[in-house]
Amino acid sequence: MSNPIPAPTKLAHLVLNARHFDQQIEFYQLLLGARIVHDAGDIVFLSYDDEHHRLAIARRPGLLPNLRNMAGVDHHAYTYENLDVLLGTWQRMKTAGYEPIWCTHHGGTISIYYQDADRNVVETQVDVFHSMEETNAYLLSEDFQANPIGVDFDPQTLRERLQRGESWETLRQRTPSGPRDPSTIPRAYLGGFNWLMLKLGKLLSRAPKQQGV
Ligand SMILES: [Fe+2]
Repeated sequence: MSNPIPAPTKLAHLVLNARHFDQQIEFYQLLLGARIVHDAGDIVFLSYDDEHHRLAIARRPGLLPNLRNMAGVDHHAYTYENLDVLLGTWQRMKTAGYEPIWCTHHGGTISIYYQDADRNVVETQVDVFHSMEETNAYLLSEDFQANPIGVDFDPQTLRERLQRGESWETLRQRTPSGPRDPSTIPRAYLGGFNWLMLKLGKLLSRAPKQQGV
């Protein structure tokens, strides 16, 4: 039976309020290969495909800094055509001075995360499986149940393997690693406060329980 509630046809765009307006525009142009479709001075519209705009950057007065510990959006994510393009993007960003904050194989995606000038986190990724059916089946697998967070990788090493001619079938494999605690996610991704809370939680869960009297 079809869903009686009409769904939207697509996720259309994202608007970022910017403290570092010019840097943000530059960053997203470089990361997404985006072009400016409209410049209204204090708001710039960007697109990287046939949508009229995918991203807008707005200059607003008096914005507070993003402390990465507020409820709301954690990150936004963009899928690239293949591993070559993903790692080419990594190389382009590196050359421009932007290092990723986390590179991890989630199982269903191989992902490279960045933090923009206003500390929004953005994910670049490629799908590991050829179809949504395969991805959905993987999400029910033992490997994903054991570690839904990710197995970290070095993009330089992965790029070298790709350039040596290793096949996608081997490059896309995730090394089985067993369970992973969220406190091992890089601090740069989590933000200092969340990272500390997770570390403390982990420490307290390890503390010996006091015997009752
Ligand atoms: Fe994501």
